[in-house]
Amino acid sequence: MNIMLAPMEGVIDHHMRAILTGIGGYQRCVTEFIRVVDQLLPPHVFHRLCPELLTGGKTAAGVPVVVQLLGGIPDVTAANARRVAELGAPGVDINFGCPSKLVNRKAGGAVLLKEPRRVYDITHAVRQAVPNNIPVSGKIRLGYDDTMQALDNARAVADAGASFIVVHARTRADGYKAPARWECLAHINEALNIPVIANGDINSLQDYQRCLEITGCHDVMVGRGAVARPDLARQIQQNATPLLWCEICKLLGDMYIAMKTQPGSKEKGILGRIKQWLVLLKKTYPEARAGFECVRKFRRLEALEAWLKASEKQENAVNSQ
Ligand SMILES: Cc1cc2nc3c(=O)[nH]c(=O)nc-3n(C[C@H](O)[C@H](O)[C@H](O)COP(=O)(O)O)c2cc1C
Repeated sequence: MNIMLAPMEGVIDHHMRAILTGIGGYQRCVTEFIRVVDQLLPPHVFHRLCPELLTGGKTAAGVPVVVQLLGGIPDVTAANARRVAELGAPGVDINFGCPSKLVNRKAGGAVLLKEPRRVYDITHAVRQAVPNNIPVSGKIRLGYDDTMQALDNARAVADAGASFIVVHARTRADGYKAPARWECLAHINEALNIPVIANGDINSLQDYQRCLEITGCHDVMVGRGAVARPDLARQIQQNATPLLWCEICKLLGDMYIAMKTQPGSKEKGILGRIKQWLVLLKKTYPEARAGFECVRKFRRLEALEAWLKASEKQENAVNSQ
């Protein structure tokens, strides 16, 4: 069984990947999408979104980080994929699921699902450009407006030579609305001769078990659930005891320090990311609600730092009683 950490633009960056893979249970991560329009991007663009390229393409915990490209022109996407491979990425993933209007207008992301032939051409060009020992994968949704072409698109990715495919069990029109349509993955999984990784709404061990039952898939990708429950993969893999809130506070502190020590980091950006994480944590930890109410008023890092220190201390004291 493999669990992959999903790409999430603006949420799962290299700091978050380091923290979540450090907890354990993940076999692979995927970067936020790197948008390719009509030219070969310089190495610093790839290094910015995937600094792990400078450390063997792996997080500190040793989990490979696949680089995700979003592009609509086969040869341009392929040229960038070749560069990504040269820079040491352990895999290249192609984004066929982004719902952003801006991205879709420029013929990238989910809009490509209207043309399975194009999905094939892009995947095939990337596969040809990247050495055989580096896996190429595609991440699709079930379709743009409906699911009619789901299998055609999945087949296009497989026939073009991808090593595996991730299927987010929603159409673009579904957005991120729950529930994900796991039942649609079963026949894709049956029809393809490459691994189909199930994605969408796997937020707990129970979800994981039900998703596998319904889809017949062996492997999954988790996104929002991984941020809301930082030890989700470990719980799934080992049925481990869930992290306590004090341990979560320690992770928030780790995230804060990682961001603060990064050259060029901005006060507002750091505050925003901690607030964002607290919002997602609310789904699992009732304590995060009060935390968010406090932190959302902060305008300065000093206030955040004091709150983080106090939360950790307070929680440690409660737990040692
Ligand atoms: C804020 C946000 C950013 C995302 N960014 C990306 C991205 O860069 N590339 C991608 O393929 N999918 C992206 N996704 C989709 C997720 O990878 C995933 O497919 C989706 O959230 C469903 O999985 P989940 O229910 O486990 O979150 C994003 C989703 C969210 C909510």
